Amino acid sequence: MAKRKTIADILAMKKEGVKITMLTAYDAAMASMLAASDVDMLLVGDSLGMVVLGYDSTVPVTMDEMIHHAGAVRRGAPGAFVVGDMPFGTYNSGKRDAIINGSRFLKEAGCDAIKLEGGLEVCETVTAMVQAGISVMGHIGLTPQTATQLGGYKVQGRDVEAAKKLVEDARALEKAGAFALVLECIPDELGRIISEETGIPTIGIGAGVHCDGQVLVTHDLLGMFEKFIPGFVKTYCKLAPTIKEAVADYNNDVRNSAFPGEAHSFSSESDLRSLLGL
Ligand code: KIV
Repeated sequence: MAKRKTIADILAMKKEGVKITMLTAYDAAMASMLAASDVDMLLVGDSLGMVVLGYDSTVPVTMDEMIHHAGAVRRGAPGAFVVGDMPFGTYNSGKRDAIINGSRFLKEAGCDAIKLEGGLEVCETVTAMVQAGISVMGHIGLTPQTATQLGGYKVQGRDVEAAKKLVEDARALEKAGAFALVLECIPDELGRIISEETGIPTIGIGAGVHCDGQVLVTHDLLGMFEKFIPGFVKTYCKLAPTIKEAVADYNNDVRNSAFPGEAHSFSSESDLRSLLGL
């Protein structure tokens, strides 16, 4: 198994021009497969709420739900660099709450770092968390927890003012002590500029090819979440139809007594009925 990456390794990858891969994970089985496939970082994203827990947005996700799933990811991938995503309302209420909740990811779930959404407005919180020993990944552009305030799930930073604000947010987060930045749903040229203007790695999702790395929701990449597929997603395989087909075959086999067959059954004395006196 590859050695668990450190923040120094991740920063060095940007310097050396080596692209960084990150994928979401929510359970031990998937985390183990992703780690075996040599992904650089696993993100226990609050997308958990939508792709696994069946909520309509990420807003209802609780700290306890995140810790439960982050712990499973850690157990499934002991050698992976794991980032826990701070849910809505667990850091926006002040530095003290942010430190208490962020520490839970490290102490109870064994995460290496946390991620939180926001720009300039969260910088003081980021600095306080870093000073408290919690490594922080920022997240700007389309921030799903506050998508309603941004006019919905749409591309951010399209006009000059909005683009300028995002460059400032990125610089401020770096200065505040963030070790990396997720850039979500922004024009690719803005993704390039922010990546060039910051010394910390940018991890893009719908932010173009010039970012220092990329992240996707694993259920999207594997074609397991059919409810909504954002335009920036590349679906590498279609597991949902494969799963449905397999389950339909199973149903058929059971209903036609074709399963279990001999290969899936245990034999006993051929005269068991009489041996039991029945
Ligand atoms: O929650 C999540 O999965 C995320 C990624 C999309 C970056 O924040």
